[in-house]
Amino acid sequence: MLASLVVFLLTLYVMGMGVMKEETRTKRSLGDIVRLSAADGGMIGMRETSFRTVPAGSQAICVASGKGGTGKTIFSTNIGVMLASQNFKVTLVDADLGLANAHLLLGLDPIHDVSQLVGGELTIDDVLVDAPHGLKILPGGSGIAELADLNEGKVQYLAHQLMQLDERSDITLVDCSAGITRQVLRFLASAHGLVVVTTPEVTSMIDGYAVIKNVYRLRSDMPIWLVVNRIRQPEDAKTVYEKMRTIVRKRLGKVKMNLLGAVPHDRYVSRSVMVREPVVLAHPRSFATSCFRKMAATLAVAHSRWKSAQKKAEDPAASYFWSLARRRYE
Ligand SMILES: Nc1ncnc2c1ncn2[C@@H]1O[C@H](COP(=O)(O)OP(=O)(O)OP(=O)(O)O)[C@@H](O)[C@H]1O
Ligand SMILES: [Mg+2]
Repeated sequence: MLASLVVFLLTLYVMGMGVMKEETRTKRSLGDIVRLSAADGGMIGMRETSFRTVPAGSQAICVASGKGGTGKTIFSTNIGVMLASQNFKVTLVDADLGLANAHLLLGLDPIHDVSQLVGGELTIDDVLVDAPHGLKILPGGSGIAELADLNEGKVQYLAHQLMQLDERSDITLVDCSAGITRQVLRFLASAHGLVVVTTPEVTSMIDGYAVIKNVYRLRSDMPIWLVVNRIRQPEDAKTVYEKMRTIVRKRLGKVKMNLLGAVPHDRYVSRSVMVREPVVLAHPRSFATSCFRKMAATLAVAHSRWKSAQKKAEDPAASYFWSLARRRYE
């Protein structure tokens, strides 16, 4: 009898402590959140701490691939310019942090890059650059090995700085490095949508599947769009998509995956790289441009759906950079 009374009193005490902890958590500032999430204890995999969510102002779409050179930066720059030309406020973050080249494909020669932001020497406004049609770009570093493997504190600091972009953009495109390193997965896992770029080559498809699998393990609700680049004939897009869908369904089960579109292997794309101007501007009547236009239209519709769902939701999606600051990989 006495023993059960003691157990009962202890339970009440522990529950009370839990409520108090929750209350103190919700009152913390963002700076505290960033610092505290670094000090939080360990579990295997990526984990989040349970502070109150900062809702997303901007829809963050990450662009990824397993194999390198599939066309992520061609996609990001052309879609970025296309959406910006349709009056969307778009920021392109070059998250291929150590080997960045989005600025090159946009014909820009920025003086500063993300390394000065990570180092705390400059602010986001010093580093952001204007690209065609009002697109904003955050240039990554060229040949800076340390940026490709940032430590916990630096990712958190960078993410904290980039939170300002949330109120300024409708869409944040994040052009990631190829592969499934911890840093890449960390960038992908916080996104509101993921574009996986593959070519019809089997190696590219298998590596694309590896990205989907790893993201699915962290975020089974992630909406995924497949882009098939460098197709040689129109039917390649559907063939690649069906093969990918079959393997995804068989091995992972229910994944929200759709075909966003395809781009042909096109000499105008190669030429546009040579002249450092996105193909949608350099060759507006090319077939490749019409493919980017179609994909931009699909993303524009998806964006308005996302935005109205975000407004109505009781529990809205979290800010990308806020999530990035608090997720970590162990
Ligand atoms: N549709 C296309 N038609 C012709 N050439 C293309 C096409 N897409 C990409 N390329 C060529 O492939 C090169 C690599 O493209 P891109 O830089 O976009 O790949 P990436 O996936 O970003 O590479 P990385 O993994 O190194 O970041 C381009 O510079 C261009 O020359
Ligand atoms: Mg690239």
